[in-house]
Amino acid sequence: MLFSNLKLDDKKPIYLQIENYIENLILNGLLPQDSKLPSTRELSHILNVSRNTIVSTYDELRSKGLIYSLAGKGTFVNSQKVLKSKDWNVDWNKYENNYSITANNLDIIKTEPKWTPEMISFKSISPDGELFDVEGFKKSFLHVISLESHKLLNYGYAQGYLPLIQYLKKYMMEKGNVTTGKDILITNGFTEAFDLILSAFTKEGDKIICENPTHNTSIKIMKTHNLDILGVDIKENGLDFDMLSKKIEENINSIKFAYITPSYHNPTGRVMTPERRYEFYEILRENNIPIIEDGFVEELLYTSSHIFPISSLDNNNNGVIYIGSFSKILFPGMRIGWIYADKNVISKLESVKRCRNIHTSFLDQAILCDYLKNDSFEKYMKKIKKVYGNKFNFAYECVEKYIPYEYIFGDGGLYLFVKLKNIDTRKLLDECLKRNVMFMPGDLFFVNDNSNECDFNDDRKTTLRLAFSRLTMEQIEEGIKNIADIIRLITS
Ligand SMILES: Cc1ncc(COP(=O)(O)O)c(C=O)c1O
Repeated sequence: MLFSNLKLDDKKPIYLQIENYIENLILNGLLPQDSKLPSTRELSHILNVSRNTIVSTYDELRSKGLIYSLAGKGTFVNSQKVLKSKDWNVDWNKYENNYSITANNLDIIKTEPKWTPEMISFKSISPDGELFDVEGFKKSFLHVISLESHKLLNYGYAQGYLPLIQYLKKYMMEKGNVTTGKDILITNGFTEAFDLILSAFTKEGDKIICENPTHNTSIKIMKTHNLDILGVDIKENGLDFDMLSKKIEENINSIKFAYITPSYHNPTGRVMTPERRYEFYEILRENNIPIIEDGFVEELLYTSSHIFPISSLDNNNNGVIYIGSFSKILFPGMRIGWIYADKNVISKLESVKRCRNIHTSFLDQAILCDYLKNDSFEKYMKKIKKVYGNKFNFAYECVEKYIPYEYIFGDGGLYLFVKLKNIDTRKLLDECLKRNVMFMPGDLFFVNDNSNECDFNDDRKTTLRLAFSRLTMEQIEEGIKNIADIIRLITS
């Protein structure tokens, strides 16, 4: 209580004691600017003194500029003058640890050119929000909130919302996985899942194999964990298995994990064939290197039949940790993903997650689960596959038609990866930005440190990712034509 420490002494003027007390509170910053004081009537009642005493107290404080009154509203604190004289300037740069320094240095939202609405941007691989089935989502929201509101708005369990876990177990079975001895942990998307796994099972300096290039956020997460990243090149016919074997041989017994995205790999858009999945799995199994499989967008297949994830080859073994995410097919804003792995792995990760953020929003999990279970999801998937499939084919044709490329990678998904002939894609981007066209330069996806010199044999310098999910067909063509024009200007 605000005035509980004020002990009034009958031998001293009462109004002065109350005035000093309030003044000290204000000078010490304990009454914030514009906070409301009790009315004279209330305060006289609280302190058991006459109302006139409080009126005199407030008059004095008002004349010192420490409070002000508004007719019909009350009396308020004016601490602005006081607070200005109490400067405190912490040097947060000195406080910053290596985790924050790495996260900030690699935060491409801060370091890369910014998107503006007039741009044709091939940068984002987010789904097109215009395609979202908002009506279906609303129905699911109303359904679960009326059915389970108390449960969903209270604390839930770190492992996740049980009906969603059960749904995903079935879903993983449909992808060819066994579920005995395995379990699921619901996470805030792939990003949290990967971070949890690295937090639980790696330490600074551990080695991790990954495709080179790979998902920029994954590079950032591996670097914030101070892992020694061993990139294995992706060549015209896919992951370079000779290089993989050589890296394993050179670092035998010191590699903790291999991280791989076999379907619609980011940024190349490539899909690994079943035979190569098997070969990859066997190499890693024989060398006892657990695999972290990123299956983030494997649902988005446009033509071929479904290829089973590497986790399905693991059967009753425990060497593969699979991460799934709904970010590209449904609502990335909900941030829902999952980890499917051996029960013991999930149990450890569950405790790490509880330590971090207790659990992923139960309301969100319940809405998503309800949505997944009804017909709307299937219809929605059909629709987006058609729309994105058409955009993929069209973007591919436009690149083939307009751009002098060395190769185009992309077997589906939401983007193409293009290698240009003798063009530094950073320089190209600078010029494109002047024409309001934007793309992701390839260097952002490579694990090697960037050198400034441009070597045209170096894929880091001469590649770009073109994402088209949020563009219209007209924008795709116009944007690619613009890029082609600029290439012509630079090379002429
Ligand atoms: C390779 C890869 N994995 C996973 C994700 C999805 O991450 P999240 O589920 O955290 O949105 C992305 C998104 O761009 C990605 O490119």
